[in-house]
Amino acid sequence: MAGRQGAQSDRQHIGRLVEMAKTAYVLDIGTTKTTCLAATTNGDDLCVVSAAAVATRGVKRGRITEPELLTECVRSAVGRVREETGGTVSRLTVGVHGHSVRSEQSRGIRPMYPSGKVVHEEDLLHVNEHSRQIVFPTGYELLQTLACEYKIDGATVDGEPLGRPATRLEVVTHVMTGLTSDLARLRGIVKVCGCEVDEFVPIALASGLGAVRPEDARSGCIVVDIGGGTTDAAVFERGSCSRLATIDVNGAHVTGDIAKLLKISLEDAEVLKISHGSADPTQFGDDDAVSVKQVGNEQARPFPRKVLSEIIESRVREIATLLREELLQGDKRRELPKTVVLTGGGSQLPGTEEVFKRAFAADAVKLGSPRLVGTNSRRAAAPEMSGAIGLALFSLEGGTEELAPVSGAVDWKEKIRSLKSIFGSRA
Ligand SMILES: Nc1ncnc2c1ncn2[C@@H]1O[C@H](COP(=O)(O)OP(=O)(O)OP(=O)(O)O)[C@@H](O)[C@H]1O
Ligand SMILES: [Mg+2]
Repeated sequence: MAGRQGAQSDRQHIGRLVEMAKTAYVLDIGTTKTTCLAATTNGDDLCVVSAAAVATRGVKRGRITEPELLTECVRSAVGRVREETGGTVSRLTVGVHGHSVRSEQSRGIRPMYPSGKVVHEEDLLHVNEHSRQIVFPTGYELLQTLACEYKIDGATVDGEPLGRPATRLEVVTHVMTGLTSDLARLRGIVKVCGCEVDEFVPIALASGLGAVRPEDARSGCIVVDIGGGTTDAAVFERGSCSRLATIDVNGAHVTGDIAKLLKISLEDAEVLKISHGSADPTQFGDDDAVSVKQVGNEQARPFPRKVLSEIIESRVREIATLLREELLQGDKRRELPKTVVLTGGGSQLPGTEEVFKRAFAADAVKLGSPRLVGTNSRRAAAPEMSGAIGLALFSLEGGTEELAPVSGAVDWKEKIRSLKSIFGSRA
C-alpha cells in the first residue's frame, strides 16, 4: 500500500515538473531498443523526468520491416512515459535513422549593398536561404539545416558575423533531407499511438549532441554511435555539425561472429561478449580462458580469451575502417577531425578506443555518454541513450537561437537551427 502511495506521489511530482517547465518528449527507434523519454532543463542541466526503453521488434538494420510489430513497441514505450508523466505525451520529436537521411553541404552567398554594410540578422537569413536553393533528390524532403561556417570577404569568421562590416557574406550549411516514404511511415506509427510528430531529427546528429562535450564540438571531433543495427557518425566542427555518415556494420555483427566461430547460440554469444569481450587481444595470455558451451554439446569447455578477443577486434576494426572510408567518400585528402568520441551500446567493449585510434590515426579517442541531473536520469546516462538525450537537447535548446523569416510563422523545416545554445551554455 505504501509502495502504491509512493508511486502515486512520484507521478504527481513528475506531473508538476512537466507542467512547470518546457518539456521535450522524444522517440528514438533503435534496432535493439525503442526509447521514449520526457526531459526538461534545470538551468544549464538536462533533467530526465521519465524514460522507457522496450526491446524493438519489426526493425532490421534501422529499416522498418514489420510496422505492426514496431507500432506495439512504440505504443508500449510511449504508454509508460504517459503513465509516469500523467498522460501529457502528445507531440514527439522523432529520430530518423541514418539510412533514411541524406546529409550534404551547401553554400550560400550574399553581396552586401552598400559595400561594407554591417551584417544584420536579415542578411544571415538571406545567405542561409540561398544555400538551400538546391534540388533535393527525388523522394527526399528537407529535415534540418545547420549553419556551419560564415565567411566575410572570403575569410572565415571566428565567432558571430552579426555587426561586422562586409562586402560579401558567405555561408556553408549542412542540409539534411529525409526519405519521404520512411517519414510517412514513422508519422503513421506515431499517429496510431495517439501522438503527432513535432519534428524529425536525424538520429546520428542527435547521438552526437547527446554524447559530445562542448569543447570537443568547438575544436572538432567525430562522434561515432555503434548501435545494434548500424554505426552512425556525426562530424562536429566550430560548434556545429557539418556531416553525417552511416554504415551497416554494427555491434550485432560482433555477436554474430562470436556465435558462428565458437559454434554457440546468439544468446550465449551476446552474454559472452558483454561479460568477457574485449577488442584488445594483447591483454590476454595463452592461459586465459572462458567457459563455452557449444551447440549440441552437454559439457562446457574452455576457450582461449585471446582468440575470442581477436574475433572481436577484427570486426571492430572493420567497423572503424569502413566508417572512415564512408566519411572520406573516396577523397583521401579530405581532412577529418583528430578526436573521436565513441558512444552507443557497442562502444562499451574494452579496447574499442585503441582500434579506432589506429584506424582514424586519431590524437584522442574518448568514450561519450549523456551528462544529466535528476532522479530518473541515472539509467538515461548510458551510452546507448545518447540518441534519445540528443533529441531532447535539440528540441529544448536547438531552437532558441534559430533564424526564421521576420514575416513570422514558419514550418520547423524552414528554420535554420543553431547549436550555439547547446554548446555555449554547457562548457
Ligand atoms: N556492455 C556492453 N558491451 C558491449 N556491447 C554492448 C554492451 N551493451 C550493449 N552492447 C551492444 O550494443 C548494441 C546495441 O546498442 P544500442 O542500444 O545503442 O543500439 P540501438 O540504438 O538499438 O540500434 P541502432 O541505433 O543501431 O539502430 C548491441 O549490439 C549490444 O550487443
Ligand atoms: Mg541507436
